[in-house]
Amino acid sequence: MSIVVEGLSYVYMKGTPYEKVALEDVNLKIDSGEFVGIIGHTGSGKSTLIQHFNGLLKPSSGKVYINGMDVAGKNLKELRRQVGIVFQYPEHQLFEETVFKDVAFGLVKQGLPEKEIAAGVKQALSTVGLPESILDKSPFELSGGQRRRVAIAGVLAINPNILVLDEPTAGLDPRGKDEIFDFISYLHKSRGITIILVSHSMEDVAKLTKRVVVMNNGRIEMEGFTWDIFRNTDRLEKIGLSAPQISYLMKRLKAVIPQLNEDIFTVQEAKKELLKFLKHS
Ligand SMILES: Nc1ncnc2c1ncn2[C@@H]1O[C@H](COP(=O)(O)OP(=O)(O)OP(=O)(O)O)[C@@H](O)[C@H]1O
Ligand SMILES: [Mg+2]
Repeated sequence: MSIVVEGLSYVYMKGTPYEKVALEDVNLKIDSGEFVGIIGHTGSGKSTLIQHFNGLLKPSSGKVYINGMDVAGKNLKELRRQVGIVFQYPEHQLFEETVFKDVAFGLVKQGLPEKEIAAGVKQALSTVGLPESILDKSPFELSGGQRRRVAIAGVLAINPNILVLDEPTAGLDPRGKDEIFDFISYLHKSRGITIILVSHSMEDVAKLTKRVVVMNNGRIEMEGFTWDIFRNTDRLEKIGLSAPQISYLMKRLKAVIPQLNEDIFTVQEAKKELLKFLKHS
């Protein structure tokens, strides 16, 4: 499913002394099946933008279309079945006494029959790589990484066509991060759903996404293929961002070893490039 944003502006606490313009004339198009990153400094409007995709926030002006349908006119229940959003620290919203009930929450709200709920929960759990044996446990008995995966499973259970992840790996250790990125990549490849990743980690964005949208003070500063964006280090740095750290190292190495390709933005690519060089030297 596609997303089209036209002239979107959003003002918090409009008409009060605390009025805050969080989005200003944002125009954006995300095609069905794309994997897009959204980056930008703290307070640039990333979370405000994505909350318009499932109708949680209503535009102060402008339009949002999901698969060509104006969100403003859409049935919210239907919209939220199509657009699943995993918020920052989603495990803070786990509140049921068992993992089963937490993952089932959205399906129960959709009013599905019990059998379908049970099947949906099991499938979502296996997608995020958790065993069925934890279904009867309390989410609070689990590790931080597992709790995060349970929370994501609750969003996946409704089988959204668009999945939006707001900092899905924040606060997790490297292993917990990898586990999450593994199934997100798999989901994208196997089901072809549209995925939007909001992240402060340039490394993660470089590794996963094809296209990046860069936000700055409520506006889109630039957008384009991930590589092209990360090549533009000067402009990124001007707005408080950077390219992935490994790309700076590769640039420095290239000063000494001119044959190296400097368009390298992930550790994995760097490793490949350096091994290639060592073999030939
Ligand atoms: N509920 C709110 N009430 C008032 N102002 C808000 C509210 N939520 C966000 N803002 C303000 O709107 C602007 C955009 O915030 P938003 O949360 O969208 O940024 P963000 O890019 O997601 O930041 P972060 O990287 O820290 O998550 C900021 O100036 C923020 O202070
Ligand atoms: Mg945010």
